[in-house]
Amino acid sequence: MLSIKVMVSGGAGYIGSHTVLALLEAGHEVVVLDNLCNASRESLRRVERLTERSLTFVEGDIRDRALLDQLFREHVVSAVIHFAGLKAVGESMEQPLAYYENNVAGTLTLCQAMQAAGVSRLVFSSSATVYGAEAPVPYREETPRGQPSSPYGASKAMVEQLLEDLCYSDSTWSVTLLRYFNPIGAHESGLMGEDPLGLPNNLMPFIAQVAAGRRQRLSIFGDDYPTRDGTCERDYLHVMDLAEGHVKALEHLPSSGVSCYNLGTGRAISVLEMVERFVAVNNVPVPYSFAPRRGGDLPAFWADPGKAHQELEWQARRNLDDMLQDTWRWQKQNPRGYE
Ligand code: NAD
Ligand code: WQD
Repeated sequence: MLSIKVMVSGGAGYIGSHTVLALLEAGHEVVVLDNLCNASRESLRRVERLTERSLTFVEGDIRDRALLDQLFREHVVSAVIHFAGLKAVGESMEQPLAYYENNVAGTLTLCQAMQAAGVSRLVFSSSATVYGAEAPVPYREETPRGQPSSPYGASKAMVEQLLEDLCYSDSTWSVTLLRYFNPIGAHESGLMGEDPLGLPNNLMPFIAQVAAGRRQRLSIFGDDYPTRDGTCERDYLHVMDLAEGHVKALEHLPSSGVSCYNLGTGRAISVLEMVERFVAVNNVPVPYSFAPRRGGDLPAFWADPGKAHQELEWQARRNLDDMLQDTWRWQKQNPRGYE
């Protein structure tokens, strides 16, 4: 595979930094644009240390058109992987305008700058949340987008629509939408991982912080769902598998138009199974108690990852124990994240 020079927006964040590492390991060249609103510059220093390769970092915002024009003038890239955005579902209910502005208006500005610079190949971070509550499981790409359950979800659905319309209007555009399921885990080295600010919203970092003694106990939201053990089931995938999925998507961008892929394992694991397995493989206690259901949670969903397997030659390779051990290694070695 020839080396591709790619701009990675949001490349200092959790999924972005692991993807930058996978891109460099695959021989590609990377320019990261990140405003560091939810990330540390240190993540990219560790990428450089682990890969023994260098990357270009530009601190700035995807909503800053002048900065984007300058970036595309100074760095001749042939594609963009677009991670930059806000991602907390609960926060999006309280601050919808911030979410539409960052995620939707930000993508619009990015696409306008790309168009002006003649860059028309894009991989976009979408989410399984766009399927909505009514979609049959496992989720398949041909199922139409459903009713979003939060402004965050709506922002992802709007960007998918925006990119579809753009490709329909102009055949020089080539876009791949990647719908992630539940990314967890950390790089095998223990040097890189998820570093949430404040109270974690998501299950895996919460479990890790309880195990590390930073939080007293985990609340399991709901024990009366119509699932195997009454707790919600999700399709958790290793962040390095997800990162490798982006490399495949970049290398398989369609010659024209939009492609869409689920990135998941195809297996559903319950919250209780996650906690019990974390305790067993890491030999560390995780106190928990049951709490009322969290608003907006669906009982169970998982991916049909067959399309990505067939067309991108991508498949999740790491198992649940890898995800849980790698999370704990990162948490133990970096109790205060990248600080
Ligand atoms: P993250 O917050 O760690 O990464 C996002 C990065 O974008 C951060 O480094 C942040 O500083 C940067 N950023 C935010 N707004 C910006 C702006 N306006 N200009 C420049 N940089 C900006 O989140 P993540 O978990 O790595 O998620 C990456 C992408 O994947 C997001 O678009 C998210 O919505 C999407 N996604 C995440 C998940 C998940 O569970 N983590 C699931 C599905 C989709
Ligand atoms: C998983 C399960 C919780 C925390 C979210 C977004 C989704 C995507 C991935 C971006 C649920 C339960 C959690 C806790 C718990 N992100 N839980 N106690 O909600 O499936 O997906 O992240 O696109 O859009 O909605 O992930 O990790 O928050 O929750 O019991 O302290 O763990 O109720 O059943 P979710 P999650």
